[in-house]
Amino acid sequence: MSRRSKAVKSKERRASTGESQHMRLQHFLALAGVASRRQSEKLMLAGHVRVNGNTARELGTKVDPLSDVVELDGKRVQIEKKFYVLLNKPRGYLSSVGDARGRRTVSELVADIPARLYPVGRLDMDTDGVLLMTNDGELCHRLTHPRFEVEKTYHAEVEGTPSREAMEDLQRGVVIDGVRTSPARARILRSSEDRSLLEITVHEGRKRQVKRMCETVGHPVARLTRVRFGDIGLGSLEPGQHRLLSDAEVAGLL
Ligand code: URA
Repeated sequence: MSRRSKAVKSKERRASTGESQHMRLQHFLALAGVASRRQSEKLMLAGHVRVNGNTARELGTKVDPLSDVVELDGKRVQIEKKFYVLLNKPRGYLSSVGDARGRRTVSELVADIPARLYPVGRLDMDTDGVLLMTNDGELCHRLTHPRFEVEKTYHAEVEGTPSREAMEDLQRGVVIDGVRTSPARARILRSSEDRSLLEITVHEGRKRQVKRMCETVGHPVARLTRVRFGDIGLGSLEPGQHRLLSDAEVAGLL
């Protein structure tokens, strides 16, 4: 077996057994969010970093992230485990970590997860459904950036029955605050005398976007639920319940 395929095999084995991998100290410090690799090297050279009680000035120093004790100026540094959570957000909760006005926030609903989780984007207080929460800042940024075009699907209960023209306007994009929304998918799922249920898929995340799109075509939203974010749907989660995403689901988001 070549040296390269041996290395790959050994990496796979370590990943599958959860066995730790040694890494350069400056890489460890960067992953832990202390500073960039370059800045971390400076901290090492200046004697700020200790590994298992010994000052580590050598730039080649390697550490085992699971067993070595790394300190910066005497304070323990650790790589935070990343959590990816799907919450079925109930109505009446703010999509934020805390609220100065004491309103209920989605953080309360994931309090059993041992990390500070941030919502990936926002749902209005009175919108329910799929809300991803994570402490992975990079993924959070990617998923909320319009450039990555993650599709979000909503079920909107609207007043009246939209005409074919109104549905085509929703699909083509409507002008909100002087800017046209990107093309969307929109269809009527069912219609009764005074209400209709629409399914709308967008990939932008402008403030109150779906409500304003529907308002603009003359059909105000009475109730809004996000049923899908990318490939992730609600499944059997009841409002207020959450679960961890599987590795495959996280990989799909990446
Ligand atoms: N669009 C809205 O209008 N509200 C939401 O909460 C999400 C999308």
